[in-house]
Amino acid sequence: MKLFLDSANIEEIKNIKELGILNGITTNPTLLAKQLLNITSDPFKESKKVLEEICKIIDVEILAEPVSTEYKKIVEESLQLLKISPKQIVAKIPLTSEGLKAVKELKQKNFKTAFTLIFSLNQALIAAMAEVDYICPFVGRLDDIGQIGTDLIKEIMQVYKLYNVKTKVIVASVRNVEHIKKSAQYGADFVTVPYKLIYEMLSHELTTKGIQKFIDDWNKVLI
Ligand code: E4P
Repeated sequence: MKLFLDSANIEEIKNIKELGILNGITTNPTLLAKQLLNITSDPFKESKKVLEEICKIIDVEILAEPVSTEYKKIVEESLQLLKISPKQIVAKIPLTSEGLKAVKELKQKNFKTAFTLIFSLNQALIAAMAEVDYICPFVGRLDDIGQIGTDLIKEIMQVYKLYNVKTKVIVASVRNVEHIKKSAQYGADFVTVPYKLIYEMLSHELTTKGIQKFIDDWNKVLI
């Protein structure tokens, strides 16, 4: 399983890039809006500037989302986003009938696409039928409504494997390390993780204690 960072924050992206473990970045209108406080011009135009900066910082795929919900406008906004870097940007579109029409058109133009806001196996099946490149099932938001979000990942991976589906699964709405462990155990292709959680993944109390003991023992030799 490979790692995406779930963030549009420049500092966070720079910091995680340095660790050499990043395979991609997911953004969404909520994450971009957090970077656009107190702006006076068109937010979509400003968000494109943020995405441009991200593309310059790191050469990985960056999932970017249009805000419109009507097919023609979804395509129009997606094309604007894809123009930033046709190689890096993947148009991430909520799974609706309008979104399906948009993905069909973008695929005909040979652009990479993703379906987001996936909450059921049926939605994941529709996405596979559309032959989209990625899907983003949201585990945390399913937990929020009393379900076990990672059960959906298990179901999707089982069925996708059964039919040798080419669409890749990026587990999203990740809130804790259990979500990440389960996603890996169920064979998810990618997980998109918020900044702080990446540090939680890589730390262990015994690693910190172990380093201190090595230093202390080493220092005892030097008199
Ligand atoms: C990423 O693609 C999603 O937009 C993101 O993981 C959503 O996370 P949230 O449910 O914590 O907002």
